[in-house]
Amino acid sequence: MKRILTGITPSGYPHLGNYIGAIKPSLDLLDEKCESFLFIADLHAIIKVSDPKRLEELSNAIAMAWLASGLDPNKTNFYRQSDVPEITELAWLLSCIAEKGLLNRAHAYKAAVDQNNESGKKEMDEGISLGLFSYPLLMASDILTPNATHVPVGKDQQQHLEITRDIAEKFNRKYGSFFNVPEPVIQDEKTVLGTDGRKMSKSYNNIIPLLSDEKELRKSVMSIVTNSQEPGDKKDWKDNTLFSIYSSFTTKEKQEEMKFLFEDGIGWGDAKQKVFNELNLLLTPIREKFLEQSDNKKYIEEILKSGAEKVRAQTIPTLKEVKRLVGISAL
Ligand code: TRP
Repeated sequence: MKRILTGITPSGYPHLGNYIGAIKPSLDLLDEKCESFLFIADLHAIIKVSDPKRLEELSNAIAMAWLASGLDPNKTNFYRQSDVPEITELAWLLSCIAEKGLLNRAHAYKAAVDQNNESGKKEMDEGISLGLFSYPLLMASDILTPNATHVPVGKDQQQHLEITRDIAEKFNRKYGSFFNVPEPVIQDEKTVLGTDGRKMSKSYNNIIPLLSDEKELRKSVMSIVTNSQEPGDKKDWKDNTLFSIYSSFTTKEKQEEMKFLFEDGIGWGDAKQKVFNELNLLLTPIREKFLEQSDNKKYIEEILKSGAEKVRAQTIPTLKEVKRLVGISAL
């Protein structure tokens, strides 16, 4: 049976790009015939989020966004990484067989070193935490503790999956075949543009929030950059930010309709109103579910705790066996 696993790092408030690129695909992949593991990678987030209060808020927000988007905790294993201590325990065991050179080549670490070199720092590793360096190792551990077979991720995570496969194979060669060597399931890139036309990202301050009220949603749609064309002017929908954002969440028919309106000279204000209406239609049920939950942190906590318990029923025996294989067991 397929064992599908994926995680989301809570390093920013959930936005439309996260929903289209990660949350929705993770839910679409689940079917009755496979076992699945969806988790909040809060231990990974510590590397990027240094304010404790904010980390807590963001972990909560991702949990709520996933649940509000339709995740049914009875049909999957839904948990917080930090509630499953076997993950960090396995990470150490794996660190004893993974070669440092393998991690030297990881993109995120290399980018940090390049930045140091470019800015003329004397020590190439200055300011780079061991956590950042060994990030791919923790990710391997996320995947191998529940012995996943398939891992849906974006293209930017492909290298991490290769590192995971490498480590799993090495373990299997050394100690006997134990881990599945997981297959990456690379999702075709659906880059959602932000209000300024660059990729939607919290660091660009151009996001359309997922869980905001109607007023805030309208404001962010109205702030999408357009040009100085007047109503009545024929508008080009190719390479147009408003059209691109609209296409990221609408059907082909709706897009055809909008293309026609662009060519027919719809005014930017009216076009934005249409985009807002459609987006609001998509997000209203999510927002309502979110509001229902947001006053009830205890409920979310219970879901996460029982998810962790469920997954630990699998990860505890895994760790026991891995330890036995490496030579750590009771006399
Ligand atoms: N690193 C992933 C990201 O930033 C999140 C993640 C952490 C993950 N552990 C994982 C994804 C394990 C898949 C499998 O997007």
